[in-house]
Amino acid sequence: MEQLSEAIRKLAKKRNALILAHNYQRDEIQNIADITGDSLALSIAAAETDKDTIVFCGVHFMAESAAILAPDKTVLLPNSAAGCPMADTVTPEGLQLMRSRYPGVPVVAYVNTSAATKALSDICCTSANAVTVVSSLPDDEVILVPDRNLGSYIAANVDKTCHLWDGCCPIHDKLLTEQVVQCQQAHPQARCLAHPECPAAVLELADEILSTGGMLDHVRNSDERQFIIATEQGILCQLRKDNPDKEFFFPDYEFICTDMKLTTLQDVYNCLDNLQPQVTVPEDIRLNAHAALERMLAVPRD
Ligand code: 13P
Ligand code: SF4
Repeated sequence: MEQLSEAIRKLAKKRNALILAHNYQRDEIQNIADITGDSLALSIAAAETDKDTIVFCGVHFMAESAAILAPDKTVLLPNSAAGCPMADTVTPEGLQLMRSRYPGVPVVAYVNTSAATKALSDICCTSANAVTVVSSLPDDEVILVPDRNLGSYIAANVDKTCHLWDGCCPIHDKLLTEQVVQCQQAHPQARCLAHPECPAAVLELADEILSTGGMLDHVRNSDERQFIIATEQGILCQLRKDNPDKEFFFPDYEFICTDMKLTTLQDVYNCLDNLQPQVTVPEDIRLNAHAALERMLAVPRD
């Protein structure tokens, strides 16, 4: 594994490539990345890089966001089978139908959507900025796609009527309150951090509701020593690296996104070697999706 990691670093240098890894990737992938982060941080890194090539170790919609924001770069998704079942719940046709049901109401698309869905949306958001983005809109009503859990979390925190698409993350949505309560009883001193893709009843039990990047910042800056983490287990890699003196507990549940775990070191090496598989977005879709992402990036951050 050491040798392969070393070979990837060398090849990335030769290709003038930036390796991005989402916080849910396998540890060995996070360890060879130039930047690890949540969807928002990685989108910003893709938009700002001066490298020729972006290797996006994540899932398809993330690489698409990079291709939308950095059209002059070669964007590689090391394992082309890595998708997001939640993003797949929205089709352009379905979204058009929802739009026609609420004429004139803006659509806010979570970044966990395809480029085609973003292109039909007014603005994007991530779990790091969802409430801020929706609050920034002048409208009294919004359509939120695709996550009903993130949607109901936003609805509870903004003064607007929210129409929700009925999608969810199959991994976060399965977490039961009983599992969180059990973990809280076993570790009564621990602060509970939950991702907003968890069901509303789980979020009610949490001390903090945060994106993966928000969780990492929170733990780094906290004086507390124990944390219950309600999100995908890949986040442990950075949590442990940043906080060797703190303890982390997961509710009794296999908290693993199989799509996020598809990418291997060999995939990363191969994609840098062959410059394949590339992710591209047709220019008409890209321009509209770009506008929705840029509107999000223009919203002042908290
Ligand atoms: P973050 O933006 O919080 O990293 O979340 C992305 C994601 O896919 C969560 O399931
Ligand atoms: Fe999609 Fe859920 Fe995996 Fe995130 S954890 S990429 S929302 S399936």
